[in-house]
This record gives sequence, C-alpha cells and structure tokens, in this order.
Amino acid sequence: MMKPGRIAAVHVPLLVITGCSGIQSALQPEGREAVELHGLLLASTGFSAAITLLVLALIIVAMWGPRSWRHRLAHEWLIFGGGIILPVVLLTCLLVYGLVTMDAGASRAARAEGPGITIVGKRWWWQVVYTSTDGERVVSANELRLPVGRPVTLRLESDNVIHSFWAPKLAGKLDMIPGRTNTLTVEAIEPSISRGQCAEYCGGAHALMSFYVVAMPAQDFDAWLEAEAGPASDPQNTAARRGSQLFQENGCGGCHTIRGTEATGTIGPDLTHVGSRHSLAAATLPNDAQAFSRWITNNQHIKPDNLMPVYQYLKPEEVEAISVYLEGLDLGD
Ligand code: CUA
Repeated sequence: MMKPGRIAAVHVPLLVITGCSGIQSALQPEGREAVELHGLLLASTGFSAAITLLVLALIIVAMWGPRSWRHRLAHEWLIFGGGIILPVVLLTCLLVYGLVTMDAGASRAARAEGPGITIVGKRWWWQVVYTSTDGERVVSANELRLPVGRPVTLRLESDNVIHSFWAPKLAGKLDMIPGRTNTLTVEAIEPSISRGQCAEYCGGAHALMSFYVVAMPAQDFDAWLEAEAGPASDPQNTAARRGSQLFQENGCGGCHTIRGTEATGTIGPDLTHVGSRHSLAAATLPNDAQAFSRWITNNQHIKPDNLMPVYQYLKPEEVEAISVYLEGLDLGD
C-alpha cells in the first residue's frame, strides 16, 4: 500500500498544478452562469466560514473564558438567538440568493437567440452540430465555438452511455442522457479559449474526453460559421493530394465525413475543417501532422477501446501523406 507521505508527495503537486491551470477553472469564470455560480460559491463559503469561526470562538469562551462571560453564554437568549433565529435568517438569505441566481438562468434561457447548438456525447468525443443562419446543419467535433454576448441554448444528447457536459469557465455541468435532450443556456462574456471535460464516468477513456471552448466576438463567430459550413479546402501540395487519395482508398470515408469529397461516414468525427481545431482526439493531442500520424498508427494506445482501428499496415510515408492532407483541412487561418 502507498504510504501517506508518498500519496501526499504525488497528489499535492498535482493539485497545485491543476489549481494553477486557469484554462479549466470555475474560479475564473468567463460565462454569465459561471459568474453567478462563482458568486454563490463565494457567498456560501463565506457564510460557512464565518459561522464556523463564530461557533469556535463561543466554544473557546465557554471552556476557558472568564467566569462572567461563561455566565452570559449560559443564558436562554443564546439558545434562541444563535440556535434558531440566526440560522433561519442566514439560511433564508442564502436560499433567496440561490433562487434569484436560478431565475437569472431561466431568463437567460428565454432570451437565447438562434436555433442553438446540439452536442452529442460519443465514445469518447463530442459531436457538435450548429445550425447556420439559412437553416443548414453544420457538423463539427470536439470544439465549441460561441458568440460573445449572445445567450445560446446547447441541446445535450447521447447515443450511447451517460456523459456529462462541463465547461467550468462557462457554466455548471449537465448530464447527457441517451433518449432525452437536456438543455443548457450559456452566454460567453468575453473572447477566450477555455477547456471542458466529460464529468460523468463513461468508460475507460472517460478522462480523455475533453474539448475546447472558443468564445469569439459575435461578428467573428458569424463569419466563422459561414466558413465552417463550406466544403473542405482542396489539397495544396503533392503530399496532401497523395494523402487525399490514400484517405479514400483505405476506406477512411466509411467513418468520417469530409464535405466536398466522397467521404460521408458518420461514425467518427467530421473532419471537413479538422485542421482549424485546437486539438485532436477530443483535446488529447495537439493539432499537427505528427499527432495525426501518432493517432492513425497508435490510437488504441493513446485512447484505449475507441472505435477507430489502428492502421499499422500503412507505410510511414503513406501515414505522413494522410497526416499532411488532414492537417491542411483548415479554414485558411
Ligand atoms: Cu464521457 Cu465521461
């Protein structure tokens, strides 16, 4: 068994490191709901701390204080005041504050603009479906783009097990349950890039089911969505053209869609503009040609039991060509 000293040696630095990583911290909110939750957290922690200190002080006085003070503490008014009136008043204040905060969330949901965004929990990644202004479905994956200052309703679904959508800087978490749609209205308050994580154990690779949230100025978001709705860019060089050909020949299009090509599969993430995303494999790998190669040949080691087979029979130069092709599928940014 691991000794307590060693457990502390392993876990304390980990806690310190994760505590510093503000990119996924609910303590640095960048969404309207997260700001409200942060306020609620500070208020309830402050209340609890103040009451704990007060009770400790009373205990100390009762045990070691001067006789006259102890005498006063023995009065009935303290039982009434401290035991009934004070808790009723303080807890009522906290309750009202909580109810006001929840109602603010409801009014935000009522103000939500546009047709919203559907996010489907997969094994172990996120399908993200936007609806463009002309009603077209724009399928993407593993990254959520939001317009700053516009409340947006996220429709959360799953076609397998229960996942939980949690972008701590944006809002609280909400489960994604097979057979039903849960809705969460979020509003980004400043342009930023943050990170989210599946918050419900959903299988071996649960911890590797993350995503990025990119909050953009509203007009930038509209321009981005219009570009995202378009077909994939054409391969720009010989390696990429060879990669495109190999992608089709090896049946990759059976599982992945690249709009504008013959690839129309829907089992894996849509790769139409995969080169423009901030990560690969649901925030597990960086987005570069080397990471594509690692994923193609070694994905079962990187994310065990994911639904993609490994392609170890491909020659290294073939893997490289496919990786160059995929990395080039960007929006020219
Ligand atoms: Cu999906 Cu945990």
